[in-house]
Amino acid sequence: MEVIIKPDSDAVSKEAAQLFEDQLEKKPTSVLGLATGSTPLGLYRELVIMTHAELLDFSRAITFNLDEYVGLSGEHPMSYGSFMREHLFAHINLPAENIHVPDGLAADIAQHCADYEEAIRRCGGIDLQLLGIGSDGHIGFNEPSSSLSSRTRLKTLTPRTIADNARFFGSAAEVPRHVITMGVGTIMEARRVVVLATGASKASAVAAMVEGPIRASVPASILQMHQKCVLIIDEAAAGQLERADYYRWVYDHKPEWQRA
Ligand code: PGA
Repeated sequence: MEVIIKPDSDAVSKEAAQLFEDQLEKKPTSVLGLATGSTPLGLYRELVIMTHAELLDFSRAITFNLDEYVGLSGEHPMSYGSFMREHLFAHINLPAENIHVPDGLAADIAQHCADYEEAIRRCGGIDLQLLGIGSDGHIGFNEPSSSLSSRTRLKTLTPRTIADNARFFGSAAEVPRHVITMGVGTIMEARRVVVLATGASKASAVAAMVEGPIRASVPASILQMHQKCVLIIDEAAAGQLERADYYRWVYDHKPEWQRA
């Protein structure tokens, strides 16, 4: 895993935006896996600015979002469908038919999850998967104890994630208990993975992901097994990494041809 430590969240967003630019330049028809939450907001702002400056072209890209709350329609203001429209999709030239977000109102959730997996396969698989990390080490909504080979399915949120996400809803009581999420196995099949984390509240999850043992109680730790995973974090999120100086050394000495 490549660990890139940046001074602040702005620099994290800019570094991640370069990866997207690089990806779309190399393959305009890229299949992008997208995430929600506070962490990617700065990146999405960058992508919008770059699209308006004609540095980015999403017209042939395809996207798959990681997850959605069960019980919320894609029109519900707290749904991830709405989140993505508000922060990205409404501002870039991505055709509506190329957008995929799990349907929180699917009547047959198991079938919907199987169809979602099939849609990813039909599009050729995910080229670049964006992830945040939960304070409990989750990726997507794969909470601790998720199978490390899981596929898209229904999950029950932990009380900690419900508390973390209560800020979006007003109160914990309003946060849905269930979600549809791509599985850990689904995520691991992406050709390239970029994980973003900012702030001291992520420091222990980041340390467990990078330097701890691989275990289902920290689903993000399976990314140690991914051949092309880059973690971009700010100084606060790097606060508990034992080898932070080594990661900085590696980044500073990276050959030019390896940079995005
Ligand atoms: P956050 O969520 O970006 O809102 O901190 C990250 C996650 O839960 O994956």
